[in-house]
Amino acid sequence: MLDTTTDHAAGLPPSPSPAPRAIDTIALPTRDEAVRQRFVSTLRKRLMVDMAGRLRRTWDSEVEPQLRRRQGRTARDGREVRRAMLSHPYFKAWSALRYAAQEMTWWSVQPQVERRLPELVEAGRAAAAADGPGSLRLDPALPVPRDVSAMDIHLMPGCFHTEYQPDDVAVGAVYWHGTAVFSAGLKLRHAGGGVARSIAEYLRIVHPRFRPRRMLDIGCSAGNQLLPYLDVFPGCVGHGVDVGAPLLRFAHARSRALGYDVHYSQQDARRLDFADGSFDLVVSSFFLHEQSRATNRQVLKEARRLLAPGGIMVHMELPPAAAVDPYYNFYLDWDAYYNNEPHYAGFRELDPVEECVRAGFAREACFARRIPNFGTVPDEEFRESALGLRPAPAHGNGASWFIFGATR
Ligand SMILES: C[S@@+](CC[C@H](N)C(=O)[O-])C[C@H]1O[C@@H](n2cnc3c(N)ncnc32)[C@H](O)[C@@H]1O
Repeated sequence: MLDTTTDHAAGLPPSPSPAPRAIDTIALPTRDEAVRQRFVSTLRKRLMVDMAGRLRRTWDSEVEPQLRRRQGRTARDGREVRRAMLSHPYFKAWSALRYAAQEMTWWSVQPQVERRLPELVEAGRAAAAADGPGSLRLDPALPVPRDVSAMDIHLMPGCFHTEYQPDDVAVGAVYWHGTAVFSAGLKLRHAGGGVARSIAEYLRIVHPRFRPRRMLDIGCSAGNQLLPYLDVFPGCVGHGVDVGAPLLRFAHARSRALGYDVHYSQQDARRLDFADGSFDLVVSSFFLHEQSRATNRQVLKEARRLLAPGGIMVHMELPPAAAVDPYYNFYLDWDAYYNNEPHYAGFRELDPVEECVRAGFAREACFARRIPNFGTVPDEEFRESALGLRPAPAHGNGASWFIFGATR
């Protein structure tokens, strides 16, 4: 029988496989590409902060008074605001530019990914073949749900799942680098894990004795919002599920190079293969609004099944329609019409607490609230907001995230 614990040639223990190369540092932009990306980030900031302010003033000072004169009352909901704003030249210009900026976000990173694709694929393979930590489990037979396959969500070419070659990581790399461009000019930089860090810090303050040992991120994509939980809760083992294999390969290679113990698997969140009560913490971010109502209801039930007693489920999402004014509903729902996110507006019409109750959670164990973005408000302000001693900053270009969930 072969002794696999020693290197027979040298009589030495086998040398550990070399640490995998950090996959997110391979496809770097040229100078010209970096300048182009800075332009896109700046354009997005212009649109989402400066021009968005003027769009609101256009409504307040011009379109809303006209509507009031015409029908004797203001708009009841976002749809009425939309109908009134659609023909305004400022909205048309803003909307067209926003659509273009969305496309340019992905186009601005595609050349660097294409140029280094062979090395990216190789880095993914090397990470999968390396010794731990963590693991990658793919299921090529898993059907991609129609919510994902029907269109390029966020206008990202190839969406989350397309594979152009064996062991492909291309859309994982495009998503990773693209989300950095997408949010670089904004205060709320979710690309770097800001959502996860904010939620983890919130949990640490509100539940000081909570020490998750196993956590699950549903729809983890490239792992953007998974690793910060493991920084805040040392010793916790991470699990991430997604249907997109290229994203998971990228996420796994990055986590492994950074030394995180994360187990990624390609699974449909509606039916996961983990045993009941497997996790102390189940999270998602920017996930539910992209799925149909039926899918979300199954996912919430699955999350409840997977939580151990005392475990916590937290989803970061867009705020529900009832929590914001008609104008802001119109503003948020732009993505439903122009960004290939058809479930966005329908999701926001639901009451998140009712959805948790429907999934089997006790009503008194459910919560829905805003929390500030960790890092953009002083720590003491963050703590007081988390404890409910002061309101979180308003949603919007400001600095807060909407979260909801329940304790099992
Ligand atoms: C917008 S992305 C989430 C982003 C990620 N959580 C983040 O914060 O960066 C939605 C992700 O959910 C995945 N997804 C969609 N439907 C799914 C399903 N039924 N099961 C598992 N993953 C799914 C998509 O492939 C995609 O990666």
